[in-house]
Amino acid sequence: MKRTHTCEQLRRQDIGSTVILNGWVHSRRDHGGLLFIDLRDRAGITQVVFNPELNKLLHEAAQALRNEFVIAARGTVQQRPSGTENPKLSTGEIEVIVSELEVLNTSKPLPFEVNEDTDVNEEARLTYRYLDLRRAHMRRNLVLRSQVYNIIRSFMEREQFLELETPILTKSTPEGARDYLVPSRVHPGNFFALPQSPQLFKQLLMVAGFEKYYQIARCFRDEDLRKDRQPEFTQLDIEMSFVDEEEIFSLIERLLREIFLHTLSIDIPVPFARMPHAEAMSRYGSDKPDLRYGMEIHDVSAAAAQCPFQVFKNTLANQGKVLAIRAPGGGELSLKELDDLTQAAIGWGAKGLVWVKVLDGDFQSPVKKHLGQELLSRLSADLQAVNGDLLLLVADAPKTAAQVLGQLRVNLAERLRLIPEHVFRFLWVTEFPLFQYSAEEKRWNSEHHPFTAPVEADRPFLDNGDFGRVRSRAYDLVVNGTELGSGSIRIHRQDLQEKIFNILGLTEEEIKIKFGFLLEAFQYGAPPHGGIAPGLDRLLTLMTNSASIRDVVAFPKTQKALCPLTGAPSAVAPEQLRELRLRMQE
Ligand code: AMO
Ligand code: AMP
Repeated sequence: MKRTHTCEQLRRQDIGSTVILNGWVHSRRDHGGLLFIDLRDRAGITQVVFNPELNKLLHEAAQALRNEFVIAARGTVQQRPSGTENPKLSTGEIEVIVSELEVLNTSKPLPFEVNEDTDVNEEARLTYRYLDLRRAHMRRNLVLRSQVYNIIRSFMEREQFLELETPILTKSTPEGARDYLVPSRVHPGNFFALPQSPQLFKQLLMVAGFEKYYQIARCFRDEDLRKDRQPEFTQLDIEMSFVDEEEIFSLIERLLREIFLHTLSIDIPVPFARMPHAEAMSRYGSDKPDLRYGMEIHDVSAAAAQCPFQVFKNTLANQGKVLAIRAPGGGELSLKELDDLTQAAIGWGAKGLVWVKVLDGDFQSPVKKHLGQELLSRLSADLQAVNGDLLLLVADAPKTAAQVLGQLRVNLAERLRLIPEHVFRFLWVTEFPLFQYSAEEKRWNSEHHPFTAPVEADRPFLDNGDFGRVRSRAYDLVVNGTELGSGSIRIHRQDLQEKIFNILGLTEEEIKIKFGFLLEAFQYGAPPHGGIAPGLDRLLTLMTNSASIRDVVAFPKTQKALCPLTGAPSAVAPEQLRELRLRMQE
């Protein structure tokens, strides 16, 4: 009983023909006499009918069918009686009257229903992932994922990129996370690291002369998991020779435009907006600003300097600033909510939070007296506040104040429902600082990774020790407040690369052990090159509007980096440890 059609194929014009369908019992409705089964396969659903008056034995056999049994059914396509058509199904005009049934497999009672999109706890969903993936929205997500991969491959092929693979068993690539290590049995005491990205290999492929490389690459990072992170995830990894930022931006813009157009029928405007990092930080207090709504940060220090409020005076006297945002409609927040916001702001590093409600031409604020009518009027005018708005002020070091307001901005946009739906606002954030000083470790770290080229004009700061001022040729692709991808124009000269390693505090010995092969390669005609790596899991999370990155990965890890389905990671036999010459510490 091999199928003649999928469960999505039959239409009005098939009426009268004999067909065979294979699939799962999606749902059953027993109407006393007639038994209706929605039969499902990957493509869709077709209603099949068992009629006791036509075949009593068959009808009895069908009574035993339960949800998720796998069956083959032969029958005749007929028009559904008038009034019983289902406009929600593409096959909703017809049904198949069954004349022969074969049960290909039965199913135990299900741990959760797969024929509805109700909330099921995630532990159960991941333990029975193969059932979870039968649910319509999960199937749609993975089908979309496959479509996106196809578009990527055909686009990159047209653009003359080569799809090349790089090793999984390799040496550590620094992307700022901990490595997953794999012990070598053949070389006891030595370890491979799983790649945090193919970064070094793709640069070596440029040295090798391939000019345009891409790979849909798996990356592994043992880091603290967040909502948009998985310990293993997938990048569209790209590297090109003889390019500058413009070619890379344009490539990604054209690719994303094609993806959104062909899958979601959304025509995203290109080129994308651009913003230097410093501007993003001062206007939005974030290196990944969400441009779907306003609430920009304003410097109100000049006005604040005129008021007697001691907190402001002290801050301004200590090179601090008073920064503010205006939340449209924020006047509706209760005192309790404003208290919570203040606590949140303190949690993000503020010393306090001044809030001002603009109500009926007057102002309401716990520090109204301290601020004075004059400042309040000027603030309200400067921020173009209208009745019902909420003004939030933070006085602090400029960076801290901006970052706190940046977080408040995101929080308030959600709370006040200021975020428009179905809008994608792409943005290139450029000119990141090359280094970041870690007060804790008392040393400079790379903001992106150590292979990123400095902006040419800032090269003198590398020599005079003013490292904090060096801008890099790194860029992030940001959309709706999420970092979708990162990349940079690279260093391709051994002397400069060595200098950067030195500033990062690596000793000659460490440089040799960790990156000797790269520095060596740079001495054999390494071309100028650069690249980028958009995260495909994040892209799909965005495109499907999923609450979690796990909803676009077939077999993801939990937030605790476990796989409930297989039980990985798990203990291994003592014998295996002995072979690897490893011993568990008590
Ligand atoms: P970066 O480390 O910024 O850059 O990563 C690039 C993109 O990969 C995605 N990503 C993740 N997605 C899910 N879970 C994670 N744990 C995770 N970590 C990163 C993000 C991110 O923007 N080699 C460089 C790229 C380059 O310079 O070409 C790199 O890996 O979407
Ligand atoms: P205080 O004088 O510390 O009692 O603070 C009075 C008000 O100012 C409180 O509402 C604080 O939350 C707020 N506040 C204190 N420090 C700051 C600051 N650095 N920036 C903004 N508001 C502040």
